[in-house]
Amino acid sequence: MSLKNIMIENVSPGIRVVRISRPKALNALNMETLDELKAVAEDAAGDPGVRIVVLTGDGDKAFVAGADISEMKDMDEARAQAFAWKGHEAMCALEEMPKPVIAAVNGYALGGGCELACACDFIIASDRAVFGQPETGLGIIPGFGGQVRLARFIGYPKARELIYSGRRLKADEALAMGLANSVFPAAELMSRVLELARQISQQSRGAVAAAKKLMNGFCEPGGTKVKLETEARIFSRLFSGRDQKEGMAAFAEKRRPAFDGLDA
Ligand code: CAA
Repeated sequence: MSLKNIMIENVSPGIRVVRISRPKALNALNMETLDELKAVAEDAAGDPGVRIVVLTGDGDKAFVAGADISEMKDMDEARAQAFAWKGHEAMCALEEMPKPVIAAVNGYALGGGCELACACDFIIASDRAVFGQPETGLGIIPGFGGQVRLARFIGYPKARELIYSGRRLKADEALAMGLANSVFPAAELMSRVLELARQISQQSRGAVAAAKKLMNGFCEPGGTKVKLETEARIFSRLFSGRDQKEGMAAFAEKRRPAFDGLDA
């Protein structure tokens, strides 16, 4: 598997660290990275030498700063739907693999980055982590499962607040809300996550896989895939409106968007 945007390291027996690496775009997820992420998840799922995956971002500034806005900017509805599906495929591959995936969030986890963290089994954050779903400020909604998975961590009222407002959360608030399981000083993040990964990797592989499968099924009794399909349809429809064009042009031009309030 040749990878341009992801680095893989087997750090100790059974533990694979997967590092998203597009430093110039703060590790934003473009189509190519989503394809690579899906392949990496499938490879880890099928590799008997891997018992647990740690997912993180390259550098100390970002876990993942979202879906790639420069790639999304000029998308039409059909392309936006295909993009949402690529995101769903990659994130479902992580979610469904019979091995735990820990998100080690070391900086910005915004938009698709927060959604990616929520597709992992749980989140361990550094004290420099910043979470949020800023999509409504770009004229769109979260498109990689935000409406489906964020509420599993923090409940619907808090998920609504974050998605409607686009407000960012620092690590301590994410911890208090239950989005992050623990927060550690940035310099200690990886050693703490690896310590926990080692502990999990010594448990029964089959028992951990069974627990993961059951808990995934129990927290989404209505069926994750049906909900993701609906989300992808509504997400992509917003690409036919003016607010998406204005929101993303404004990001590229580093100014505030002027929404007309008419698009729905
Ligand atoms: N997509 C593409 N490029 C991005 C990006 C993204 N999501 N986030 C940051 N970048 C790029 C910036 O454009 C910038 O590139 P240039 O140097 O070429 O201008 C570079 O990364 C560094 O970013 P900043 O200069 O903005 O860094 P900063 O420290 O001032 O701000 C930040 C950091 C707060 C994370 C800011 O970059 C930001 O707000 N990024 C966008 C976050 C966002 O809106 N994410 C949601 C995307 S939509 C989505 O994810 C939809 C979905 O669910 C499918």
